Amino acid sequence: MSPPPTPAPPAAAQASLAGADLREALRLAAAGERAARATAAEAGNPGWRIAPMRGADLVAVRAIDAAAFPHNPWQTGGYPAAMARRGAYVMRLADGTVAGLHVVRSDADVLHLVQLAVRDDLQGLTLGRWLLRWGLLYANETGASRAVLHVREDNARAIAVYLAAGLHVSRRIENHYETGCRAALQMEIVCGAHAPAAGDGR
Ligand SMILES: CC(C)(COP(=O)(O)OP(=O)(O)OC[C@H]1O[C@@H](n2cnc3c(N)ncnc32)[C@H](O)[C@@H]1OP(=O)(O)O)[C@@H](O)C(=O)NCCC(=O)NCCS
Repeated sequence: MSPPPTPAPPAAAQASLAGADLREALRLAAAGERAARATAAEAGNPGWRIAPMRGADLVAVRAIDAAAFPHNPWQTGGYPAAMARRGAYVMRLADGTVAGLHVVRSDADVLHLVQLAVRDDLQGLTLGRWLLRWGLLYANETGASRAVLHVREDNARAIAVYLAAGLHVSRRIENHYETGCRAALQMEIVCGAHAPAAGDGR
């Protein structure tokens, strides 16, 4: 099968990238697209799709962020910067509204799962599991050897989702956060040939 066409970056972003940076952004964009298609296929016509975050999504994204992380909403420039490096994705419902977000950062052979959240009225419906699944497939697509994240030690729901996806706790970090529960768990998973099996499709 021939490879899918590489999505063209927005003109403004293209203008700010050149040479190797542009090639890397295009490579990551293509990986994100392939991972999105694979996630939707695994989920089986789910009524949502995972797509690159756009400027028009930022109001909804920041509302989801503020509700999900009331003690430490992400800094103002975080999402635009992640969009520019092709690491910001949303889960979009059929009516176009944003149900959740996942921000990742590719660093050599490690994929950092930076920010994951589901709109609060849609939590508990498996959307977070599929957003995470997209991140793990993206890690495989980019050739990362492992995917890594940090989670507050008292975030039982998120930890349950990560454990169910095959991540394990690799270390505990005292005073990682400045507010609330300050201890973080670092969780990670080996990617590529040792990637986790597909979700059970619920
Ligand atoms: C964490 C988050 C992304 C998960 O997304 P979600 O769509 O709510 O999660 P899912 O529906 O896919 O899965 C929820 C799972 O958590 C489990 N769960 C729910 N509440 C739980 C709790 N208090 N303790 C343990 N497990 C819990 C459910 O049983 C379910 O597992 P199951 O499907 O095996 O029964 C979402 O809840 C969220 O955005 N939370 C706020 C932001 C956040 O904490 N992000 C992670 C930062 S590291």
